[in-house]
Amino acid sequence: MNEEQRKQQTKVMEETSSADKKSVKEKDYSQYFQTTFVPPDLKQAKKRGKEDISVHYDFDIPEDMKGIGKGKKFLIRTYGCQMNEHDSENMAGILLSMGFESTTLTEDADVILLNTCAIRENAENKVFGEIGNLKPMKRDNPGLIVGVCGCMSQEESVVNKILQKHQHVDLIFGTHNIHRLPELLKNAIFNKEMVVEVWSKEGDIIENMPRARKGKFQGWVNIMYGCDKFCTYCIVPYTRGKERSRRPEDIIEEVRHLARNGYKEITLLGQNVNAYGKDLEDMDYGLGDLMDEIRKIDIPRVRFTTSHPRDFDDHLIEVLAKGGNLVEHIHLPVQSGNSDVLKLMARKYTRDHYVTLAKKIKKAIPHASFTTDIIVGFPNETEEQFQDTLSLMEEMDYDSAYTYIYSPREGTPAAKMVDNVPMEVKKDRLQRLNALVNEMSARKNKAYEGTVVEVLVEGESKKNPDVLMGRTRTNRLVNFRGPKSAIGELIHVKITEAKTWSLNGEVTEIVEVK
Ligand code: 5AD
Ligand code: SF4
Repeated sequence: MNEEQRKQQTKVMEETSSADKKSVKEKDYSQYFQTTFVPPDLKQAKKRGKEDISVHYDFDIPEDMKGIGKGKKFLIRTYGCQMNEHDSENMAGILLSMGFESTTLTEDADVILLNTCAIRENAENKVFGEIGNLKPMKRDNPGLIVGVCGCMSQEESVVNKILQKHQHVDLIFGTHNIHRLPELLKNAIFNKEMVVEVWSKEGDIIENMPRARKGKFQGWVNIMYGCDKFCTYCIVPYTRGKERSRRPEDIIEEVRHLARNGYKEITLLGQNVNAYGKDLEDMDYGLGDLMDEIRKIDIPRVRFTTSHPRDFDDHLIEVLAKGGNLVEHIHLPVQSGNSDVLKLMARKYTRDHYVTLAKKIKKAIPHASFTTDIIVGFPNETEEQFQDTLSLMEEMDYDSAYTYIYSPREGTPAAKMVDNVPMEVKKDRLQRLNALVNEMSARKNKAYEGTVVEVLVEGESKKNPDVLMGRTRTNRLVNFRGPKSAIGELIHVKITEAKTWSLNGEVTEIVEVK
């Protein structure tokens, strides 16, 4: 963003923050958006230009905001995907730099931020439930700052609803202006007015925001922002903006830094990581090239998510086949096994194309576990088309799958389709699909019995603190008894029993696997 744009945004924010809550209530909201802040506009989001994105390395907390949080505590509640978890780590970093301390207790918090997810309606309902729950707390403690950020804030309808029904919210900001948190929070604290700043257009890449990583040995590394695929059911290209890749040297430096600090596993993140590099105009560089560099860094495990079959190229397959720290787990969302449905979803591949690609990957990386995402009940999906999804599951012999009922998202092309599939039918399809997924997962797990696997010990099992849990390179969950000192270490575990969704085992040696 240039200086002029920044001034414009600051002006917008100031106008917004000085707006009187009462007058907001009485006004026509559409007019309010036009005059006081850039509205989340789905049509505009689709008209993406080729404007240059600048990278900034000069983020700093203004001097007068560094002590604002002294003696105060914050809590960030994160919903949705890993990208939100990643963003919450940036927000936590910013808040710590402003003098706040973190807390896990709602009643102790002076600032509560809800980092929201818009992918399906039930995700949004959960957040609205939580916003409602915070109302009595805000009444008892008027000094409490309640903020809503993340993907839902990028939706005009959500912002409208908060303005109309949840006046106890103090701050709304989106996914593109997290770096503005210090100024926004300062306004929310001192003006006691609802501060709303949502950028409908993505901004520049801000490289050096402070970061409070949650994991001490597992870390997220974002490699790109946004998505340009516009699958017809998906809200992400609107809430996260256009595809923007981080510079390879910045990513590699971040990975090296994590390696130096003893991290054992990193996950490269992006909404569509396979499109990495396409927007880097000064270089011909893709995900394969990046992974080939990261492969040489001394960090035991490297994962990546999420892939789109369209951009999964031969060079990447070649690099992944080299193994080493590039773990053998491929998550390749297919969404449907029927080519007509895939066309309506605008996935831009057919079932045959997907199968050919997946087989090529399986051949190159024979021991890879393979997982996918499936949506059932897309508008007008027939029983026959659903059967194609079931048959694809068998044909691909997946290790596991994340399965969802289609949820219409306002403003997306699919939401405008007339849908003749009743909800009971969709639920029934989900159940039948899940039964098959369970059976496949159990079958795959059975094959692990008696084998010795490398496990990164993540912590105590949620169900039983005497038991430890960790994951294999193929992302299988393993439970076993062992010393707490093994947490954060790579160890060898012999699998004694396979369950549907996890493996039980016993430690054979607590020696670091190299
Ligand atoms: N309804 C249901 N599932 C969806 N997904 C994305 N959008 C929707 C929607 N509108 C699923 C896709 C995607 C995963 C992250 O969420 O399967 O791969
Ligand atoms: Fe959504 Fe993924 Fe499709 Fe992008 S590629 S539009 S994030 S489903």
